[in-house]
Amino acid sequence: MCGIVGAVAERNISAILLEGLKRLEYRGYDSAGIAVLDAAGQLQRLRRSGKVAELESAQRTAELTGRLGIAHTRWATHGAPCERNAHPHFSGDDLAVVHNGIIENHEALRAQLKALGYSFASDTDTEVIVHLLKHKLGEFGDLTVALKSAVKELHGAYGLAVISAKQPDRLLAARSGSPLVIGLGLGENFLASDQLALRQVTDRFMYLEEGDIAEIRRDSVQIWDVDGQPVQRESVQYHEGAEAADKGEYRHFMLKEIHEQPKVVQRTLEGRLGDSQVLVQAFGPQAAELFAKVRNVQIVACGTSYHAGMVARYWLEELAGIPCQVEVASEFRYRKVVVQPDTLFVTISQSGETADTLAALRNAKQLGYLASLAICNVGISSLVRESDLCLLTQAGPEIGVASTKAFTTQLVGLMLLTLALGQVRGTLAAATEADLVAELRRLPTRLGEALAMDATVEKIAEHFAEKHHTLFLGRGAQYPVAMEGALKLKEISYIHAEAYPAGELKHGPLALVDADMPVVTVAPNNELLEKLKSNLQEVRARGGELIVFADGAAEMENGEGTYVVNMPHIHDALAPILYTLPLQLLSYYVAVLRGTDVDQPRNLAKSVTVE
Ligand code: G6P
Repeated sequence: MCGIVGAVAERNISAILLEGLKRLEYRGYDSAGIAVLDAAGQLQRLRRSGKVAELESAQRTAELTGRLGIAHTRWATHGAPCERNAHPHFSGDDLAVVHNGIIENHEALRAQLKALGYSFASDTDTEVIVHLLKHKLGEFGDLTVALKSAVKELHGAYGLAVISAKQPDRLLAARSGSPLVIGLGLGENFLASDQLALRQVTDRFMYLEEGDIAEIRRDSVQIWDVDGQPVQRESVQYHEGAEAADKGEYRHFMLKEIHEQPKVVQRTLEGRLGDSQVLVQAFGPQAAELFAKVRNVQIVACGTSYHAGMVARYWLEELAGIPCQVEVASEFRYRKVVVQPDTLFVTISQSGETADTLAALRNAKQLGYLASLAICNVGISSLVRESDLCLLTQAGPEIGVASTKAFTTQLVGLMLLTLALGQVRGTLAAATEADLVAELRRLPTRLGEALAMDATVEKIAEHFAEKHHTLFLGRGAQYPVAMEGALKLKEISYIHAEAYPAGELKHGPLALVDADMPVVTVAPNNELLEKLKSNLQEVRARGGELIVFADGAAEMENGEGTYVVNMPHIHDALAPILYTLPLQLLSYYVAVLRGTDVDQPRNLAKSVTVE
């Protein structure tokens, strides 16, 4: 999704802006641009479709320098991904704007502004903002006053950064539905849509809230809230090492993040387990009281996070005896929902800024749910701020667009939730909880053992390099694991992959099976194993190649067209977490063999902050 970086300083800021854009590349984008105010007081702009590297090399040739500037990576929504539509957008030659989000009334505004004589150079919704602002500037004379007036006419979502050649002492920002953070320096200040973009220059941040407008100068920051009242926003020191955004010894962020899983799962468990129980207060001081009232759970999420919710449904119903429904947020938010009494509304999100998930939460608040809980990886996100309870996953920044460590830490969070609800409601036997708590403590070690199979999985990936279609099969809680495996493969290798509950094979997909359609299966040693083995025979009988990740005790053997990878033994309830790892590795190595852009797959974005 789009990224914003801005700076006002005494030194040349173009390299800082470009470095900031590079740090936001992981979010997914299709063009990039920069505008700086040069020494002669003129706004200079460079834009390129494609990667930030192209903008950077153009910047080197053009020698764009200045002390005030804004920059942007664009993920096309209105208008094709081309240079003409890339931000910054100008009105005349003295006013520049970059924008994240979508302006819903852009057509009406465009017509009004055209009638006033403004001409449009792009197909974007953003360009209406810069002309509207120019118009307001004519009326009010002061840029800050003009921005305050202009945003009142915008419907939709925006994070904005604005600079003007006429008022070169300031960088302006406005937030509504799209996050912005101010980076505080010494005699210089910065702005970005994600603090990650600024960790090279500062570790002190001030987060704008919904409706805020900020006037950022070299040595001061002034903020007005949604009612136009001056406000102070707290400045916070960020502690995570800046190195988190480096690939280290790994070829891709995705591989690094896959290998971080034992560590981040450990971190997600820290401080949340007692001797034989989950510490319910890990969900917040009111959790015990609220959890005692819960009779149903409704989970809402998108993408990989939705798959985590699908796994949790098996856990919540089987272990805690709580009825659970799971739905993708983009459907939930527009559906007439019947709310069962005493239902806990749970959102799951890596970023905490996914537009559909946030909108679903906001709708849910009007619908009479008991309370809302966010399982999220970003503590300062809108989702966390707007939920009654939260459990933060401790995955650290996830850069690869295809989610890996965020998923497994979400699963850990959801298992903690299952145990906490079962404990408080008295529906889970103390011995079962104690057993699972002990298993959770061993989980990081088991995950490390699974990752040690990296080279074996790399070899298996060779079977896929030339294929166009794949099936993923699983039964029970492994069905969503198969869904997540299929999603990973299509996201980064562009191979068409579908997941089926293995029992459904004979109801349709079996017609597709032949020697060109590899079938990937996850087969822990549980009560569904024998049924799964029969499903696999159905595939082999049609000449389909099988790749099976199986518990050693499942006694499945390599044979003609069947490749079995023996997995470490694990408690059946935690198997979905463990069996996710080889599927992540498989997608990764297939993508590497096919030479795709692993960390930034085409057309996808890390954080989908628009509908
Ligand atoms: C995008 C990402 C996915 C992610 C989904 C939900 O589609 O590419 O990896 O699962 O958004 O994001 P969230 O931040 O809410 O988990």
